[in-house]
Amino acid sequence: MSNYSIKHLEEYYQVYRKSIRDPENFWSEIAEEHFMWRKKWDNVLSWDFSKPEIKWFEGAKLNITENCIDRHLATKGDKTAILFEPNSPDEAAQHITYRRLYERVNQLANVLKDHGIEKGDRVCIYLPMIPELAISLLACARIGAVHSVVFAGFSSNALSTRINDSDCKMVITSDGSYRGAKTIDLKGIVDVALDECPSVKDVLVVNRINSDITMKEGRDKWLQPLLDKASMECAAEIMDAEDPLFILYTSGSTGMPKGMVHTNAGYMVYTAYTFKNVFQYKENDVYWCTADIGWITGHSYIVYGPLANGATSVMFEGVPSYPDFGRFWEVIAKHKINQFYTAPTAIRALAKQNIDFPEKHDLSSLKVLGSVGEPINEEAWHWYNDVIGKKKSPIVDTWWQTETGGIMITPLPYVTPTKPTYATLPFPGIQPALMDENGEEIKGNQVDGRLCIKFPWPSMARTIWGNHQRYKETYFTAFKDKYFTGDGALRDEVGYYRITGRVDDVIIVSGHNLGTAPIEDAINEHPAVSESAVVGFPHDIKGNALYGYIILKETGESRIHDNVRKEINQIITEHIGPIAKLDKIQFTSGLPKTRSGKIMRRILRKIASRDMSNLGDTSTLLNPEVVQEIKDNVL
Ligand code: WT7
Repeated sequence: MSNYSIKHLEEYYQVYRKSIRDPENFWSEIAEEHFMWRKKWDNVLSWDFSKPEIKWFEGAKLNITENCIDRHLATKGDKTAILFEPNSPDEAAQHITYRRLYERVNQLANVLKDHGIEKGDRVCIYLPMIPELAISLLACARIGAVHSVVFAGFSSNALSTRINDSDCKMVITSDGSYRGAKTIDLKGIVDVALDECPSVKDVLVVNRINSDITMKEGRDKWLQPLLDKASMECAAEIMDAEDPLFILYTSGSTGMPKGMVHTNAGYMVYTAYTFKNVFQYKENDVYWCTADIGWITGHSYIVYGPLANGATSVMFEGVPSYPDFGRFWEVIAKHKINQFYTAPTAIRALAKQNIDFPEKHDLSSLKVLGSVGEPINEEAWHWYNDVIGKKKSPIVDTWWQTETGGIMITPLPYVTPTKPTYATLPFPGIQPALMDENGEEIKGNQVDGRLCIKFPWPSMARTIWGNHQRYKETYFTAFKDKYFTGDGALRDEVGYYRITGRVDDVIIVSGHNLGTAPIEDAINEHPAVSESAVVGFPHDIKGNALYGYIILKETGESRIHDNVRKEINQIITEHIGPIAKLDKIQFTSGLPKTRSGKIMRRILRKIASRDMSNLGDTSTLLNPEVVQEIKDNVL
């Protein structure tokens, strides 16, 4: 018997030890007992981190939607699978039962097939947080098409880059979206993007805001009339365990976004098993993750993990501040939410508001509080614990990444004693290692280093779409035979982990992972800019905000700095999206560089954080004098 649901700390340690001692048996028991397979695997795991090549459940055949939907119909057909809470509190919530979900997914799957989408084809999904978004993922999975969701806050440029990288044949979008009191012209953004995307043959458009958009003849179609005609039955495509399920782009420290590829069987098993334990989900619980499905959190813990467990998963279209800062608490009371999963940036923003907002609502249904996306600081942790959880709902601070597919280091509620700011212990099957600068593993407790994972887990990304070499270089070369996360961490005296943040050029802003290079590339497109460097600095709500150091060209004309600042943020918005805008822009005559020409970001980071005391030895710089100038003019 597998320990699918871990109930106390002793059991956690037992299960953990078993998962390390005999990973293959451990995972095959879980896979065997809790999922529906068309054919069982021939081999549980084969792996080689030097190639790198990782295969789980090789030879198995399945369809993830049969696991997320079909198998629940007999016992839970009338249970709410997706509970949709619209942007406006005046619009009624929608309860989509497992039966209705089955019908709607199949209808869309049939529409996709009618438009020539076949197993292995890529479909780009650019939708707001409406039911059609979750349904689109599942409809692709039903027929074996590979979905590539692009967060609907990204710009047309970011969208076309992602569509072209994986040659999507189709885009599913909506006429527009609601965001608080505003509406956003999504279809307009798609139209601009598609001027650059020759691979896209069809665009299916959901009518969400009833806006008057232009439909391109032969390319664009309203989705609803097609669905109305489609059959509610669609046989599930039988997939191999290692067939790709989806691509999801994440920023790297350099260059193009990386299209992380996740495959069917391992991803399903791991997201389902983690969901069950990290949230201690019980039948009839109502679970709410506030993330957008445009990020991995939404893929794994709004759609696949919860549905594989037959859970009720809330999808929220709106924002925490609309119509006021009490919205989250109102929704928790309204739907009697039992598990609530959000990001530190939201917690910090809400903690700043009048205490009446949370206090006026009945939050007594809450049993588990989750945090994800960035380190949660002590103050936010206590506020969350005291004001929202009333000290009776454990906080699960879950550390993981787009690349890991599922939660890696986390407390289990009512099992692992929590400790503020600590993600605590590895989930069963996860073997973390802290490494020093010389590539040696640091053993023992009360140590810190670079966080690596020594052994494969079922939901790890298998490659970067179209660029396996980059996958190898980014994750498997810094430390031999280990997956390198890009994060630093410390391990305390009892073996609890605390994630201390990125050690590379990725900056987490409001929980969004941003690479400095693409932002700098965008800035450098401004005709007046000759060079730029972007670093993060601490921000009390966003965690980090962006600080740009900019060298202007000597054009002779005296441009007004504030105009250039505005234009730079405009360009960033167009290229990446508003989340990547700079909070501060300092003009400078030079950037501190090493003799080999590499920008010393460490110095720029310290100055931007107003931590001038210990800049280290700057005498070996190519241009040490520039450091004083930058310090003098810091914003
Ligand atoms: C990076 C991954 C995992 C879904 C959301 C982000 C940071 C994530 C935590 C946490 C400290 C965290 C790391 C990681 N991060 N969760 N609980 N404590 N840091 O996914 O966009 O791929 O970002 O987010 O730096 O490497 P992502």
